[in-house]
Amino acid sequence: MWTSLLTPLLAVGMARAQVTAAGANGVTNPDKPEFLPIGAQVNMTSYSRLLTLNSVDDFCLYGPPEAGPDSLIGNTEPIVVAWCTKPRNNARLIPDGAIHAAHFIKTPLYVQISGFWDGTKVNIPYGDSGGELDPHGAKNLGNPIGGNVTTDVATGSDVFYEEWMSFISYDQFCLRICTAETNNVTAALQCEHELDIMGCRWVMAIDDFYRSNGTFTSCEGEAAAPPGLYPQADGSTSTFRQRYTGTWSADGSLGVFTVGQTVTPSAPAFWPATSNCVTYSTIGNGVATTDYMVTAAPVTFVSGSSATVTGLSTTTMATVTTPTNIVESTSTAAEATDAASTDGSKSGEAGSSAGAATTSSGSSSSAGVSASSSFGAVAVVAGALLGAAVIF
Ligand SMILES: *[C@@H]1O[C@H](CO)[C@@H](O)[C@H](O)[C@H]1NC(C)=O
Ligand SMILES: *[C@@H]1O[C@H](CO)[C@@H](O)[C@H](O)[C@H]1NC(C)=O
Ligand SMILES: *[C@@H]1O[C@H](CO)[C@@H](O)[C@H](O)[C@H]1NC(C)=O
Ligand SMILES: *[C@@H]1O[C@H](CO)[C@@H](O)[C@H](O)[C@H]1NC(C)=O
Repeated sequence: MWTSLLTPLLAVGMARAQVTAAGANGVTNPDKPEFLPIGAQVNMTSYSRLLTLNSVDDFCLYGPPEAGPDSLIGNTEPIVVAWCTKPRNNARLIPDGAIHAAHFIKTPLYVQISGFWDGTKVNIPYGDSGGELDPHGAKNLGNPIGGNVTTDVATGSDVFYEEWMSFISYDQFCLRICTAETNNVTAALQCEHELDIMGCRWVMAIDDFYRSNGTFTSCEGEAAAPPGLYPQADGSTSTFRQRYTGTWSADGSLGVFTVGQTVTPSAPAFWPATSNCVTYSTIGNGVATTDYMVTAAPVTFVSGSSATVTGLSTTTMATVTTPTNIVESTSTAAEATDAASTDGSKSGEAGSSAGAATTSSGSSSSAGVSASSSFGAVAVVAGALLGAAVIF
């Protein structure tokens, strides 16, 4: 319902969502986030929706199950499937070269990957400004339904986490998994999922996002302020809500709604510092896309060098089939579109646009809603959650 846009942050905060997921894993997912055994074949038509984010070269993102003009993220949010940089999770494989940049950050409260890609290689239509995915969605079953995430970064072993958020478009991506919470920052707040047109740079607090194309880094870092929250010097916090003006339709009726006031903050509360960064030249999946057979244990980056994954089983059970669903290279769509998108992205730096998710329709996780147009922000008194509030 569009009214979810009006739900105050207070409700989210008071839920005190668990950090570790307790509910059922999606029915299309394997039980555990594992690399495929040697001898298996990657299933490029898999419907697995299990994402893993373990490192700069071992992560998954969502993409539409089928290619085509109807596969705009705004249309396919409930049914997107997992695509991974390594053969794992019974998911599809992101082709080598599709990831143009990847920046991994481990913080005390979350792990995060962001960067640039050729999203057409995972079925996102060229020019699609994309949308936001999270574990809530219209039916609270997740967008996608059955979408789940794991990381081993916080504990050293694979853990399913309850709160995460991801923005994807045809040229950008970011994914944050919230692994811990403090007494004033819940995992739900740190992985806030309603600022869905603000984009990667703003929501995930990445200062150099638009200057980071072409590079691959793995860093530690301090946690950002939760998206939309602005801690004040006096210890209070002011809160922004995304301005949202648009039309909605549900059950045959039409309406117009506006949430918020007119000022969009141009930046998050602060740009979090990073440290111990290691730079890599590129990442690769180690699988020949002629037949998608896994012929060797994956090699992943660990502390600046490459390490071969050990303990992997082998199989002779895989049915070797001719791979289907291989994305044809996209037409070189109009330069003008590209330029427009780049401008749109950059204007995110000026606070007037939204980067990865300047979507014009259906990108919110609300069912039956098509919303677009201007946005800004509104201050919400968050006193009940975070102490005395200041109207920004
Ligand atoms: C899987 O995702 C659903 C929907 O977001 C969630 O309710 C459930 O707790 C998750 N389960 C696991 C094991 O991650
Ligand atoms: C690939 O995944 C699809 C969707 O789950 C499934 O129908 C198909 O049988 C799988 N292919 C193989 C070879 O396992
Ligand atoms: C990032 O770099 C790649 C490779 O140079 C380029 O094709 C792509 O258009 C760039 N993406 C953006 C958003 O500038
Ligand atoms: C949470 O508390 C810490 C420690 O007092 C403070 O530095 C931080 O700004 C607070 N965060 C928010 C979002 O209020």
